[in-house]
Amino acid sequence: IPLTLQPADTSLGGFDHYLIKEIHEQPRVLRAIAENYAEPVRRLAAMIRESYGSFLIGCGTASYAALSGAYLFSRIARRHVNFAVGSEFKYQEHFLTERSLVIALSQSGETADIIEAVMAAKRAGARVAALVNVPGSTLDRLADFSIHLGAGPEQSVLSTKAYTAKVAILMLTAHVLNGSEHVGREHLWRAVDGVEQALAPASERRVQEIADRIADQEHCFVIGRGLSYPTALEAALKIKEVSYIHAEGFAGGELKHGVIALVEDGTPCIVFSPLDETRDDILSGAMEMRSRGGFIIGVSPEAEEVFDVHVPVAEVGDASPLVGVIPAQLLGYYLAVRRGLDPDKPRNLAKSVTVK
Ligand code: G6P
Repeated sequence: IPLTLQPADTSLGGFDHYLIKEIHEQPRVLRAIAENYAEPVRRLAAMIRESYGSFLIGCGTASYAALSGAYLFSRIARRHVNFAVGSEFKYQEHFLTERSLVIALSQSGETADIIEAVMAAKRAGARVAALVNVPGSTLDRLADFSIHLGAGPEQSVLSTKAYTAKVAILMLTAHVLNGSEHVGREHLWRAVDGVEQALAPASERRVQEIADRIADQEHCFVIGRGLSYPTALEAALKIKEVSYIHAEGFAGGELKHGVIALVEDGTPCIVFSPLDETRDDILSGAMEMRSRGGFIIGVSPEAEEVFDVHVPVAEVGDASPLVGVIPAQLLGYYLAVRRGLDPDKPRNLAKSVTVK
């Protein structure tokens, strides 16, 4: 659905870097989705309802938005939507039929692995929906139906506002499928306020202090469960791609299957603990890390005893991935600045990977 296009704002607008500017644009992007996306979201929900076998695909940050979607559809709409990273999709395309739906997520709409997957889907007669930020991009043109994210240009190599836009749209879609559209919108409005709070000067300073404290570490571990598992993966990606600190995100329950062996005295461990069904189990994971000397950074609406540092975030129900990821984006940014790196152009990375 083509939305009204405004001249693209590509200036730094008083910020030092595009990354921090784009992080700060998220309340505006999410507000526009809460206000204007009822129609396209209903259409996407109808496509999912009509299909037999849906697949969410994406690469990099978009893959974590896709995985978030799989959790949101399961939890809110009780619907199984498959997930694959773009480059792996070709090993699963045997399941495609004319009734399949491929939902392709991409900021640029030019990622080669996504385009290849979409072409395969079309060859099999499947339908293709796109969540894409760049209107007129290859993916936008190939899809049977596109929702434009409306996030405006992302200049920084790291994807931030396109990520939260995709997650917000998928959350709303899950609620439409569940017949609870108004609840979805209400949670999104709460998230708009929550994201604003997470970006308030005092919150940002707190993250900056954490960055100062952990900037010389070599490793960082991030855990989450349920809806917060994809958030943990995305948080780790944000930290590693821009600060070059080895950051690993994983499901809280996997701690005991290996990673706990790597936690040493002072190792930063980020724990996502929203007030949902994962809370008790994730806090016991945090306790295991702490007892091995881990420095626990808790992202949660509540201050918990096990946290060495508490990063407060608003309680926003099903929209918890939207507020949880903000401190991680800020942390990546401030770690890069502190380590003297360019936050907008990490080494070896490209904004859009158009080769396979
Ligand atoms: C590259 C970028 C990432 C991005 C990924 C997918 O790796 O560095 O920031 O998430 O491509 O890009 P897309 O445009 O398809 O969302």
